[in-house]
Amino acid sequence: MKVKKAVIPAAGLGTRMLPATKTVPKEMLPMVDKPVIQYIIEEAVAAGIEDILIVTNRAKSAMDDYFDYYPELETRLNQAGKDRELYEVRKAADLANIFYVRQKETKGLGHAIWRAKRFVGDEPFAVLLGDDIMRADKPVTAQLVEAAEKYSASVVGVQKVSTEAISKYSSVKIAPLEQRIFSVLDMNEKPTPEQMFSNYAILGRYVLTPEIFNILENLNPGYGGEIQLTDGLQKLCRRSTMVAVDFEGRRYDTGNLKGFLEATIDFALEHPQTGDWLRQFIQEKAKFI
Ligand code: G1P
Repeated sequence: MKVKKAVIPAAGLGTRMLPATKTVPKEMLPMVDKPVIQYIIEEAVAAGIEDILIVTNRAKSAMDDYFDYYPELETRLNQAGKDRELYEVRKAADLANIFYVRQKETKGLGHAIWRAKRFVGDEPFAVLLGDDIMRADKPVTAQLVEAAEKYSASVVGVQKVSTEAISKYSSVKIAPLEQRIFSVLDMNEKPTPEQMFSNYAILGRYVLTPEIFNILENLNPGYGGEIQLTDGLQKLCRRSTMVAVDFEGRRYDTGNLKGFLEATIDFALEHPQTGDWLRQFIQEKAKFI
């Protein structure tokens, strides 16, 4: 089993980041000097993915433009001798083979993934949620792909979250298989602390087999009246092998303001152009707050 395709659902309305996301897609907000979605695509590419489908909607055409060439700008940068900028602008367009499909109605994550059916065909594929940026030595998608190939199974990326936080996620019922890898027995979306199966939550990364599409096609709306991917995965894990990887790395939820700011600070601290300056700035600031 080789994973060469990925799907990035990016058709949400961005309601947790308003008013900034009224006209700018949340995936296009700058994380230091690159849009959020570029980090997600770079992670997929680092995991050996070659073809990427972004599920968009009518308000997100800035994304397609970003991953295209921009001859007028490139000529100007070239003439001005701005080699670094030219390299970066061009690099974004050459990262991968990127395809787009629109989710014509906002009907939930499961429905967005279902829109990838034609693109995926009969191959396994990775799913990377457009809000979740990971900072990890080994790309989180690569950690999941490795487990998918080893077990010939679907994989969900999980980490422990607090009992208070579990109702923001899906909770999984698991049994240990080996270090950091579990067999998935059941799951539910946005459980209350009483309903949760464990403190392990699925956090934005999956490797799925195309079996999921028939399930999604016949799924009733679940939590929030939406077609939930988790409900589809619950059915999938009951009929086929599914494993959970307790992945190594830090996840940032850039779809909410605090997560976005945390990621911005951490990434800016590591960035060669801003790291030293920001460290000093924060130290100065800290004296007065
Ligand atoms: C989605 C999924 C949920 C998952 C979460 C974090 O929820 O539905 O199962 O745990 O992402 O990856 P959302 O953040 O869209 O509410």
